[in-house]
Amino acid sequence: MVNKKRHPAFQTFIEKLRVAWAELPNVEARMKKGQQLLEELVRDDSLRRASRLWPSTEGRKNLLFYEDSDYRFAINGVVRIPERKGSIHDHAHAWTAYGLLDGTESLERFRRVDDRSKEGYAKLELESVTEGTPGKVDLVPPYDIHAEQGGPTRSVAVILRSERVAGKVLQGSYSLNGNLYRQIEGPTNIPYEITE
Ligand SMILES: [Fe+2]
Repeated sequence: MVNKKRHPAFQTFIEKLRVAWAELPNVEARMKKGQQLLEELVRDDSLRRASRLWPSTEGRKNLLFYEDSDYRFAINGVVRIPERKGSIHDHAHAWTAYGLLDGTESLERFRRVDDRSKEGYAKLELESVTEGTPGKVDLVPPYDIHAEQGGPTRSVAVILRSERVAGKVLQGSYSLNGNLYRQIEGPTNIPYEITE
């Protein structure tokens, strides 16, 4: 078996994240620094070229590129088919930086306007829609409600999470149709090495 080397820009990203996690005092400060570092990563043309070979994550999957055994942050990838309809969700207590590497997506943010007293019910209002283009990173705080909608072409995102949520805790899932709320398992994580 040929052991290919980790992509150099991705290796640098991991090393800088580890420095940030060691130096900064709390998860918010680390993830704000992580957002800047992810912006550098998703502007890297060689990574963009490498990502053209990444497999589709259709069927509620995430590629799992890396999970840090000391600091617990996780790096995932999502490869969407053109015009993919994204569902509305939160990431529970985890912080998430969502960086678009290739293609375009629209990033929707929602505000919850009910008093949370009714089981299985959540009334949402659309707060903003941002056009995501390669190099842009959206920082999503804990429990923020959002959806990512695919664009006219295949799109690829790299996601930095303060910790892996899928397989550990349930996350919120919302439907505008009927104002439904439920808790669901996160996407299936498929280990994938980013090589040169
Ligand atoms: Fe998300």
